[in-house]
Amino acid sequence: MPKSSKRILLFAPKHTYRLHDFLQAARKLGIGVVLASDRCKVLAEMYPQENVIAVSFTHPDRAVAKIQEQLEVRSIHAVLAADDAAAIPAAKVARALNLPFNHPAAIRKSRNKFMFRHAMVKAGLPSPGFRLAGIELEPESLATGMRYPCVLKPLMLSGSQGVIRADHPAEFIAAFRRIRHLLQQPEMAHPCNRAFRYLLIEDYIPGQEYAIEAILTRGRVHLLAIFDKPEPLEGPFFEETIYVTPSRLPADRQRRLKTELESACRVLGLHHGPIHAEARINANGIFLLEIAPRTIGGLCSRALRFASGMSLEELVLRHALGDSPANLSLQRQASGVMMIPIPKKGVLKQVHGVEQARAVPGIVDVQITFPLNHELIPLPEGSSYLGFLFARAETPEAVVAALSSAHAYLQFDILPTLAVV
Ligand SMILES: Nc1ncnc2c1ncn2[C@@H]1O[C@H](COP(=O)(O)OP(=O)(O)OP(=O)(O)O)[C@@H](O)[C@H]1O
Ligand SMILES: [Mg+2]
Repeated sequence: MPKSSKRILLFAPKHTYRLHDFLQAARKLGIGVVLASDRCKVLAEMYPQENVIAVSFTHPDRAVAKIQEQLEVRSIHAVLAADDAAAIPAAKVARALNLPFNHPAAIRKSRNKFMFRHAMVKAGLPSPGFRLAGIELEPESLATGMRYPCVLKPLMLSGSQGVIRADHPAEFIAAFRRIRHLLQQPEMAHPCNRAFRYLLIEDYIPGQEYAIEAILTRGRVHLLAIFDKPEPLEGPFFEETIYVTPSRLPADRQRRLKTELESACRVLGLHHGPIHAEARINANGIFLLEIAPRTIGGLCSRALRFASGMSLEELVLRHALGDSPANLSLQRQASGVMMIPIPKKGVLKQVHGVEQARAVPGIVDVQITFPLNHELIPLPEGSSYLGFLFARAETPEAVVAALSSAHAYLQFDILPTLAVV
């Protein structure tokens, strides 16, 4: 694409991993960026060449007013959100600027796991049995009436935070209390957000799990990549580790997945831009676990390279400016990423073996993203990644083998933290 005179308004929330790759893509394409963020000062220092506007993501209507006040709105050609937390304000601003974006109501539906489940039932798509429970309820009185195994989860968190499997009433009671405690932490929720006062209980869905990257254009799904998750995700916690593509899912199942994704998006009201979905597939069908109107989280998008080396962020930026993603295919080599598991709770003091991990044939990058001297919190309470390993090879199996051997070289010195009594 020729260097353009286009400008994009990019919403970037606090703590996103995604900003760097979006900015790099914009620079490569010659697209101007205005950043709208709730951590304006930090970003202005990190990216002095970008134009940064401070907005509150908890008051999207004020964000709209401020952006209209500060920007020559006709100079903006597209709006994008780098992550979940920025999607609602981005949607409202896009509407005010008359630029294509998903409706805020569709984003709310996709982010709330209870509303999402309802939408799947409405679409006639396979869904586990589910029920909502207020966190003030006594789990002892609920536990005997449950079907086991089941999965308990918060409505609005992500990255498997607070998601716990229970196989019998005693585990149900313990899981319920643990999630309640998590949801009551002061940093957790905006007090007005009622979603944090509930948890969702679903039947456990057995089967193989997949992650899907796609892009929507006027409601039509264009599949970009399907990742297999070769490590078993059977609980009690669901820590993501390896994603590898191309998927071994048979072609007819992939077509079915695409059709079901399209129906699900239609019912949710999502019609434009990137989507990241997760599904479990078994003999009873394709069970969608989530559809988020954003790109894949963390640094995982670096596992994807399209024709002529294009990154996912370049593709998404070009799509936002009106390019068609048709004819874009992934590079031929198999590729994968490992989200490095957090081995235990404590302060990260030192990481060993990075150079040896990097030297493993097939490994293309090792990124330790967690800062030293900060406290690592494993699932189900934690929400950050230790880092990422990336590999490329001829086959998905060789990618998985490279990631596993590189991981075996990594050693983490973690100092146990003492509880304050
Ligand atoms: N009903 C279920 N049956 C089996 N496994 C489940 C079920 N619900 C969740 N899981 C497992 O837990 C993981 C996390 O659950 P889920 O995707 O619902 O939450 P999240 O990742 O925290 O949020 P989001 O995906 O919306 O960002 C899933 O990827 C899956 O492995
Ligand atoms: Mg998920």
